[in-house]
Amino acid sequence: MGRSMGCPNGHRFDLAKHGYVSLLSGKGTSHRSDTPEMVASRTAVFNDGLYDPIMAAVAAAVPAGAGAVVDAAAGTGAYLAAALSDSADRRVGIAVDLSKSCARAAARSHPRVVSVVADLWAQIPIADRSADAVLSVFAPRNVTETARVLGTGGRWVIVTPNPDHLAEIVEPMGMLRVGDGKTERLAVDLAGSFEICSQERVSARLDLTTARLADIAGMGPAGFHRTRPELDAAAHALAGDTTASATLDVTVTVARLAG
Ligand SMILES: C[S@@+](CC[C@H](N)C(=O)[O-])C[C@H]1O[C@@H](n2cnc3c(N)ncnc32)[C@H](O)[C@@H]1O
Repeated sequence: MGRSMGCPNGHRFDLAKHGYVSLLSGKGTSHRSDTPEMVASRTAVFNDGLYDPIMAAVAAAVPAGAGAVVDAAAGTGAYLAAALSDSADRRVGIAVDLSKSCARAAARSHPRVVSVVADLWAQIPIADRSADAVLSVFAPRNVTETARVLGTGGRWVIVTPNPDHLAEIVEPMGMLRVGDGKTERLAVDLAGSFEICSQERVSARLDLTTARLADIAGMGPAGFHRTRPELDAAAHALAGDTTASATLDVTVTVARLAG
């Protein structure tokens, strides 16, 4: 018999054999979530250490004493795993994502990660004031829900791309351009509910093989509308038999509840 979890209202949620629990109801959601191909591309990029500077900055931004860390739209769980790796054994992670492929990867990302399929726009599936940190990395942000789940002294760690992020490869690889003002828009979103404690710019130069060029494009929104052969062809046109360079350029914002 399969394992399941229950809630006080009598609902039962089955634990998938791949180690995550899905809290989506029968009608599911209208939001688009990452595909298995996008997860594979993201995993290849992370396994090569290409995003390590961002992972290190996110892990360092989580308060040292944080026990429960929620990764809201966790993807493969790599950022959450980084935040758990250097911490004391008592720190646990809750990975939340709409995509089953992501949830499956996140369930394997670290022994102390619990992986949940849920729609962030409906709810972050944990109790009021029970998280010490919430991570939102290149992710949709539900300000009201984050304010509800963060405990006193909790921190919201947010990664947003800057206009120069991967700028050299955006057009040739058919990726979406980062609009100006993402960081400014974040400040507007947070105003009233959160206060910004710190903002750190993280940048690095990447040398990308054709395979990783296609992966970096394919792990983002381009992965929804371009096939792998199209991405490979664009990567070959850009880098030929060598590599192409691109800049990582993001802002890591740490915020706390206002008042
Ligand atoms: C750009 S990816 C970032 C993933 C991860 N934070 C990272 O940086 O590797 C955005 C993630 O948001 C998830 N997502 C999109 N809409 C969502 C929703 N409504 N609720 C939960 N997750 C969602 C996608 O499945 C995807 O994994």
